[in-house]
Amino acid sequence: MATAADTTAMRRAVALAARGLGFTSPNPVVGCVVLDASGHEVGAGYHQRAGGPHAEVHALRQAGVLARGGTAYVTLEPCDHTGRTGPCSQALIEAGIARVVYAVADPDPRAGGGAATLRAAGVRVEEGLLADEAEAGNAAWLTSVRLGRPHVRWKYAATLDGRVAAADGTSRWITSPESRADVHRLRAEADAVVVGSGTARADDPHLAVRGVDGAAQPLRVVVDTEATAVKPGARVLDDAAPTLVAVAEDAAAGHLDGVGVVQLPRAADGRGLSVPALLAALHERGVRSVLLEGGPTLAGAFAAEGAVDEVVGYLAPVLLGAGPAALGDAGIATLADALRLRVTGTDRLGPDLRVTARPVRPSTTKET
Ligand SMILES: NC(=O)c1ccc[n+]([C@@H]2O[C@H](COP(=O)([O-])OP(=O)(O)OC[C@H]3O[C@@H](n4cnc5c(N)ncnc54)[C@H](OP(=O)(O)O)[C@@H]3O)[C@@H](O)[C@H]2O)c1
Repeated sequence: MATAADTTAMRRAVALAARGLGFTSPNPVVGCVVLDASGHEVGAGYHQRAGGPHAEVHALRQAGVLARGGTAYVTLEPCDHTGRTGPCSQALIEAGIARVVYAVADPDPRAGGGAATLRAAGVRVEEGLLADEAEAGNAAWLTSVRLGRPHVRWKYAATLDGRVAAADGTSRWITSPESRADVHRLRAEADAVVVGSGTARADDPHLAVRGVDGAAQPLRVVVDTEATAVKPGARVLDDAAPTLVAVAEDAAAGHLDGVGVVQLPRAADGRGLSVPALLAALHERGVRSVLLEGGPTLAGAFAAEGAVDEVVGYLAPVLLGAGPAALGDAGIATLADALRLRVTGTDRLGPDLRVTARPVRPSTTKET
């Protein structure tokens, strides 16, 4: 049975893990707290960047000899393999930790097994404390390991009547500066930001992160089947962040010389590019999390493929009465087939409301 002290320590480990968001890909975010034998915190740490020490190593270093006989709280099962750093299971055993409590089991077959190694060495091991919170914090990495494709967070900014642009195509700005600043935080957490050719044409978006201290820039991706939307001089082609233009295998993309281009198969229904192929190509490039910034047509195609893992809607207290809806055709014709979501957060941002939700049934799309 977990005590209140166990829960407090794990909650702190979950909060520490979140500090690594945007910096650890293709690795998970992980937090660790070490209490000594009498229950005092003697070490805390998190995985700060890919290739750097794991959370356990930071926390154990801080704890030193005080870790002996103590408890380690880790948001993810300690790894059991020697990658760029040694196995954490071994580090915990060598530090004399008596008990390990972890939130979520490691689904990566190459890294799992840490719990068994710890038990074999006589360490008491417990799994599952605050698993939901830890899982939510690591959603991108867990999705990418389980499904073999990046986690997709779809973000849109709409009026209260659900429109993302006016009838004449104008869309700047529906939401407040506070909401727009929050989108930059989402971009900073993502490995890639994706838009369709319609958005590239209408808005000439920049898609880089601005105003977030120390942020890593995501890969900017435009899904431009015919290679006609991204033209020399487009804002997305500046040097603020890397850019990839996804085009059809048979598209003439000569004018994009010097720009990152990936050629992909067309969608089976002939409307644009294959979404699974796009996600596979991004995964191959190390992308574990995608922020899909629309527009509605491309978002509909992702939803139809079961490739929306999280929705972040910014709703402004504005009415338009005409103009495109946030989500285009997602292949849903009847209410029984509606994509049902569970709301995971509601927040006020300036005058706007931010609603975060996840599909009730987890996505299943796998790499092709
Ligand atoms: N408020 C917001 O949050 C927000 C966000 C984004 C955009 N917008 C607004 O939305 C409008 C643009 O909407 P949109 O729906 O035309 O743009 P979009 O979704 O960005 O682009 C649609 C285009 O993407 C291409 N595409 C490539 N693969 C596809 C696939 N598998 N399925 C579907 N399409 C695919 C298609 O053109 P090709 O195949 O020819 O390339 C398609 O016409 C603009 O007014 C913009 O301001 C608003």
